[in-house]
Amino acid sequence: MTGPGPFLPYGRQTIEEDDIAAVAEALRGDFLTTGPTVEAFETAFAAKVGAGHAVACSNGTASLHLAMLALGVGPGDSCIVPSITFLATANCAAYVGAEVVFADVDRDSGLMTPETLAEALSRATGPVKAVLPVHLRGDVCDLPGLARLADEAGAVLVEDAPHALGSKMDFGGGPERVGDCAHSAMASFSFHPVKTIATGEGGMLTTNDPALAARLKSLRSHGMTRPPGADPWVYEMAQPGFNYRLPDINCALGLSQLGKLDRFTARRRALSALYAERLAPLANAVRLAESPAGSDPALHLLCVLIDFQALGVTRAEVVARLAAAGIGSQVHYIPVHTQPYWRARNGDLDLPGAQAWYDRCLSLPLFPAMADGDVERVAAALEAALGL
Ligand SMILES: Cc1ncc(COP(=O)(O)O)c(C=O)c1O
Repeated sequence: MTGPGPFLPYGRQTIEEDDIAAVAEALRGDFLTTGPTVEAFETAFAAKVGAGHAVACSNGTASLHLAMLALGVGPGDSCIVPSITFLATANCAAYVGAEVVFADVDRDSGLMTPETLAEALSRATGPVKAVLPVHLRGDVCDLPGLARLADEAGAVLVEDAPHALGSKMDFGGGPERVGDCAHSAMASFSFHPVKTIATGEGGMLTTNDPALAARLKSLRSHGMTRPPGADPWVYEMAQPGFNYRLPDINCALGLSQLGKLDRFTARRRALSALYAERLAPLANAVRLAESPAGSDPALHLLCVLIDFQALGVTRAEVVARLAAAGIGSQVHYIPVHTQPYWRARNGDLDLPGAQAWYDRCLSLPLFPAMADGDVERVAAALEAALGL
């Protein structure tokens, strides 16, 4: 009997020899950090997503924290965050002492919508300073709809976009790229290994506002600025910042990976299409998460929705059976409003869309190095795990 084959994780980085060579070159250079590769990575990234400015930082969580600091969000303010996201989206508001109002999500896409944002806005008790939509899985939220409501509420839109590097959208005004900030003040990215490009740890903010970009750059390095014309050793600090810098070593890897973004996203799109084709006949039991209108995703996560109860099997049993067949899976995400910290702080909250998403979601392997045949292997294992 043959074994199940090599383990397929739900996601993983693609590091090639030229990526390794780029890092080695950075290690041999004069700068390990705060050198020219940082700006080279930022310039290339801004051009790739169509934004005016990009600011690199140590990870996607730091990038969200910097966004809150740069906007001056603080105690007494509220931020609106979808409940289906990674913890970091809400934590960044907590770091600056703001309140978090959790928005519900669409039960089939997992995304914040204008309807769920409007409902969350109606629950806010303090001034809402920021709205943080998450392009979950790589599918793009209705940015014009969210921007209109945020604007009316006097809030700023900050896209949490680590899943959506390379995703596109068209809301009727022609094709756009995630990160171009045409509808938002800033977009935040992460280069954690499972993301579309990897730098180990790493993050990036994009914006079209030069003043905001300058504030972000200062805040990521202790709040320091260099007054124009001052002596070379002089710096000033108007506000304490952090050491959230991204070293040249990581930026060299990022720059090399960014050159492969189109290839990586094309492969993600091709694999997603194969999954869609293979899973279509199972539609009564297994459905792909829904793409909202206008979204043209380069999926980061391949999420399926399964009514486990109706099939008489638990998700834990399915996860265990897939693992025994050498297939990794994951749950994205536990609704953040149900975390003990947030329940103690905000009380119990009923968000039916988030609950319905959480009850049914499962992320299957999706990463560029997968072979076409791996999709068949995952689908067949899922069928067996579900007893189909
Ligand atoms: C939606 C979302 N926001 C923020 C983050 C935080 O990014 P990082 O892990 O780089 O700090 C992640 C990373 O997992 C994420 O998925």
